[in-house]
Amino acid sequence: MAFSKGPFRYPGGKFYALKYLEPFWLTVLHDEYREPFVGGGSVFFAKPKAKFNWINDIDSDLITTYRAIQDPVLSGKLINFLGKETATKKRHAEMKQMPVRDKLSTALRYYYLNRTSYSGITNKPAWGYREDKSSPPANWGKRILEARGGLQETKITCLDFERVISAESTNTSVLIYLDPPYYQADQKRAYTHSFLGGDHIRLAKVLKKTKFKFFLSYDDNQFIRQLYNGFNFYRLKWFYNTANLKNKKRNQGHELVITNYRIGSGNLFETL
Ligand SMILES: C[S@@+](CC[C@H](N)C(=O)[O-])C[C@H]1O[C@@H](n2cnc3c(N)ncnc32)[C@H](O)[C@@H]1O
Repeated sequence: MAFSKGPFRYPGGKFYALKYLEPFWLTVLHDEYREPFVGGGSVFFAKPKAKFNWINDIDSDLITTYRAIQDPVLSGKLINFLGKETATKKRHAEMKQMPVRDKLSTALRYYYLNRTSYSGITNKPAWGYREDKSSPPANWGKRILEARGGLQETKITCLDFERVISAESTNTSVLIYLDPPYYQADQKRAYTHSFLGGDHIRLAKVLKKTKFKFFLSYDDNQFIRQLYNGFNFYRLKWFYNTANLKNKKRNQGHELVITNYRIGSGNLFETL
């Protein structure tokens, strides 16, 4: 099955893992879906929409850009401006310096830098557009338009993850997908907010208390296994992109999916 794509390139994005993650959202009937660490939203854009949907990230420029894409007037203007852009090193340098005054200029700058910087990293962005590989400006509008459809009637917030997990719901069944920055992160430079040891512990504490169903992606290591001792572990093996790999090939990694519900494991992963 072909999965819909989000509008961004995103460091740590899970697009390449979707076929492994799909059983985790198909197993749980839910009328509300939350993603507290949405980033580029690979899972959010790929899965069928629930009755109520809520995406969140602490990166305020990313969230302003999602909101601009969701708004029919602003997204029209954004597509129009981006359609006139060229992907050059000179323009990239200008965009980095461009003062932002409002939602539209924030979204314009963010989207341009996301598309033309190394690995889509907008935190201290470095020129990374490749004529032969990168999506050209002429294609950006189509991606934004598709994303606008996917974002209709979605709640979009810029909060710390804890508030999104702990919020009460009036719906019957809530499913939460969490994709926090890795514990043994080679992604430190990738995000605007650092996620420290205390944050990993805080996340586990909130998840231990939640009455909602959740599935959580993490890098596989002893610390995380101990932190989530007692939950269900599925070990996945896939190829992923990381922010500062020296060689440009995809790296093969082991990742855990941790849940508070069970799925039939099939043969895509090992159940631990
Ligand atoms: C691994 S990325 C998510 C990637 C996403 N699943 C995708 O497919 O593109 C982790 C995200 O967590 C966000 N983040 C970091 N600290 C956070 C916090 N305290 N609360 C909410 N989001 C946070 C980062 O800004 C980043 O976008």
